[in-house]
Amino acid sequence: MSGYEKPSRGWGYCAPSPVLLLSVLTAAPLGLLGEETRQVSLKVISNWPDFSQNLLHIQAVGTNSTLHYVWSSLGPPAVLLVATNTPNSTLSVNWSLLLSSDPDGALMVLPKKSIQFSSALVFTRLFEFDSTNMSDAASRPPGKSYPPYSLANFSWNNITDSLDPATLSATFRGHPVDDPTGAFANGSLTFRVQAFSTSGRPAQPPRLLHSADTCQLEVALAGVSPRGNRSLFGLEVATLGPGPGCPSMQELHSIDDEYAPAVFQLDQLLWSSLPSGFMQWRPVAFSQKQGSRESAMPCQSSPLYPTLAYLLPQSPIVRAFFKTQNNFCAFNLTFGASTGPGYWDQHYLSWSMLLGVGTPPMDALSPLILGIVAVALGAPALMLLAGGLFLLLGHKRYSEYQSIN
Ligand SMILES: *[C@@H]1O[C@H](CO)[C@@H](O)[C@H](O)[C@H]1NC(C)=O
Ligand SMILES: *[C@@H]1O[C@H](CO)[C@@H](O)[C@H](O)[C@H]1NC(C)=O
Ligand SMILES: *[C@@H]1O[C@H](CO)[C@@H](O)[C@H](O)[C@H]1NC(C)=O
Ligand SMILES: *[C@@H]1O[C@H](CO)[C@@H](O)[C@H](O)[C@H]1NC(C)=O
Ligand SMILES: *[C@@H]1O[C@H](CO)[C@@H](O)[C@H](O)[C@H]1NC(C)=O
Ligand SMILES: *[C@@H]1O[C@H](CO)[C@@H](O)[C@H](O)[C@H]1NC(C)=O
Ligand SMILES: *[C@@H]1O[C@H](CO)[C@@H](O)[C@H](O)[C@H]1NC(C)=O
Repeated sequence: MSGYEKPSRGWGYCAPSPVLLLSVLTAAPLGLLGEETRQVSLKVISNWPDFSQNLLHIQAVGTNSTLHYVWSSLGPPAVLLVATNTPNSTLSVNWSLLLSSDPDGALMVLPKKSIQFSSALVFTRLFEFDSTNMSDAASRPPGKSYPPYSLANFSWNNITDSLDPATLSATFRGHPVDDPTGAFANGSLTFRVQAFSTSGRPAQPPRLLHSADTCQLEVALAGVSPRGNRSLFGLEVATLGPGPGCPSMQELHSIDDEYAPAVFQLDQLLWSSLPSGFMQWRPVAFSQKQGSRESAMPCQSSPLYPTLAYLLPQSPIVRAFFKTQNNFCAFNLTFGASTGPGYWDQHYLSWSMLLGVGTPPMDALSPLILGIVAVALGAPALMLLAGGLFLLLGHKRYSEYQSIN
């Protein structure tokens, strides 16, 4: 949250304190609660017979619960997360109502009584900043802002074509409807959504640990012509939750960077109700498709503030589900710094997050780190033991010596 004030913590090349070790060791076993595996299905719900509008419905069914993720590119890209306590809940969409000017109630999860948690994220604007003269990497904003791209005014690909049941993924690929400078002529902004039927970790950094209760989003900007030589990009995210007040932002630290090199921090946003929903990410973005330490850029998040609904582009699905409830909160993510790798290297940028419900996945210490810790703790223990034996034997010899006298 305080990435702007404390960029070194936000990034985390700093060495973690040894005190962290204990918290990591005790926190690790709490990792994956909830359903271990789920039956996951991805379905495109179209406005039959007009297929130009559609929703992506991810349904993850467990023994006692169902999670519904509804992704949409009607208006700005948005996702609804609804968790129910039955394996039999269903999503119902009334298209004529959803596309009307007053979509209240057009989208429901039934039975209503089974809903345990619901929230939404809306990706409202893409910012571009000129960081040319910014020597202070922590400044906010990170440079002069070019006119932002409103994601409500983007047009998106046919989601059906990108649906991949094997990897449980689909990709929304968009560009501005109106692009007078042709910046997006050879590029796009993509939202790749992936669900999981069990827990694991993707091959690509930052290798966030996921569970069957989560869904991953990878946002990538590729091939888009920047408006300056040193452009930094940012994304504005609005949230809506079950209760009043904003979700809380947390920074977790660990001594382990095995899965995300040089990143010792995990950021998460938690809604306060129980069971809670969460959004989780590593404060890192990558300037190359093959994410690596060399292409890693800091990702800074601003604090979350309540915001007025009318200041945000409206998402019909959010309005349809939450009706007049409008306690939105918003924050900004900024990718990169004026020095180091940047979008300018390859005209590429990607960042990943998890969205889920229940206990957020938490990395246990990796085997490598456990080995190092064991050796580090083991060596002094052996020395103590040796010392103790030495004293014991010494004392014994001394007493033997006394008894001889
Ligand atoms: C989207 O793609 C699917 C499958 O390729 C096709 O059936 C559908 O008509 C397409 N929709 C539009 C609006 O092009
Ligand atoms: C499902 O619910 C039943 C009855 O409420 C309970 O006995 C069982 O332990 C639950 N199973 C899981 C996996 O939570
Ligand atoms: C959808 O909403 C419209 C407008 O409120 C209503 O007239 C229609 O009956 C609804 N359709 C269904 C299937 O509920
Ligand atoms: C950056 O600073 C230089 C020297 O101070 C100035 O000439 C130039 O116009 C500045 N560029 C921008 C984009 O502000
Ligand atoms: C897009 O690509 C084409 C062909 O590679 C090239 O001629 C054109 O200049 C590019 N446009 C932009 C805006 O980069
Ligand atoms: C970008 O860099 C080039 C070459 O260094 C320079 O000619 C050009 O003016 C710069 N453009 C901007 C917008 O700063
Ligand atoms: C995000 O950053 C932009 C540009 O600095 C600013 O106009 C906007 O108000 C910020 N939004 C939030 C929610 O902080």
